[in-house]
Amino acid sequence: MKHFLQFSDFTLDEYDYLFKRTALIKHKFKSYERHQPLVDRTLAMIFEKASTRTRVSFEAGMYQLGGSVVHLTTGDSQLGRAEPIEDSARVISRMVDLVMIRTYGQDKINKFAAHSRVPVINGLTNEFHPCQILADLFTFIEHRGDSKNPLECLKGKVVTWVGDGNNMANTWLQAADLLGFTVHISTPRGYEVDHSIAGLTTNHSFKVFDDPLEACKGADLVTTDVWTSMGFEAENETRKIAFNDWCVDQEMMSKATPQALFMHCLPAHRGEEVQAEVIDGPQSVVWDEAENRLHVQKALMEYLLLGAL
Ligand code: CP
Ligand code: NVA
Repeated sequence: MKHFLQFSDFTLDEYDYLFKRTALIKHKFKSYERHQPLVDRTLAMIFEKASTRTRVSFEAGMYQLGGSVVHLTTGDSQLGRAEPIEDSARVISRMVDLVMIRTYGQDKINKFAAHSRVPVINGLTNEFHPCQILADLFTFIEHRGDSKNPLECLKGKVVTWVGDGNNMANTWLQAADLLGFTVHISTPRGYEVDHSIAGLTTNHSFKVFDDPLEACKGADLVTTDVWTSMGFEAENETRKIAFNDWCVDQEMMSKATPQALFMHCLPAHRGEEVQAEVIDGPQSVVWDEAENRLHVQKALMEYLLLGAL
């Protein structure tokens, strides 16, 4: 049994398979062709934080695969009334085939997985957001690569991360380390990425820049995220001041390669981490990126339950 708790849980071969399988599953979806390998399977989705994309993509995705879903939140379950996570894992995993969790600390999802009888998927923690990076990479491959050899187009590329050293940044580091591209990171002081969270022992796959304009030089993809992630709302006002110069604008995009793409996991705040002219401009692929959550996660759920087909 496999879990998907962080990006580094899968091998190169597994990502090669998943991206190829995603292309097939997406093609079937676009052709209105039924693809229901998960009939009679049930996914439990546990949300301890808000969500639009993750909920809709997992819920719609599981139904499209022929299965069904159970939606739980902290507020409407015993999870919010201090039932031990180990007990919740033991019970929920006796009743369903697959669990997706969005929560706070990675330790919580690790503990759940350790006591689960079924595969567990990370739908975002404070440390990682692997399903989002799966969708981002698939989107890059769709726009710049070849679906027959999906990983090839990533090798040697530069992905620039502008903003907070958060769960998305940590996951980009893991992806770069495994897939052979480089991340240029520029964050305000005090909000740096801690590469040990990603489990990286060397700095071969990333470079740190004080100046976001410098970080954007030569980028094949520029990406950013909200200044304040869920769970850090108390820091909102301090962050607004600290992050003022880390807004992706046209000047930053002009430093990147002419064919550079722009991505944002969404939700976005225009005028904060990104200017409208960029996110709504010609280099932005954010709507494809959001849609691809559906397709990559269908491939992921199928793989965790049935293996490579
Ligand atoms: N990008 C993302 O995970 O969006 P939601 O918070 O809406 O799920
Ligand atoms: N870094 C953001 C991502 C939201 C999808 C957060 O954790 O809130």
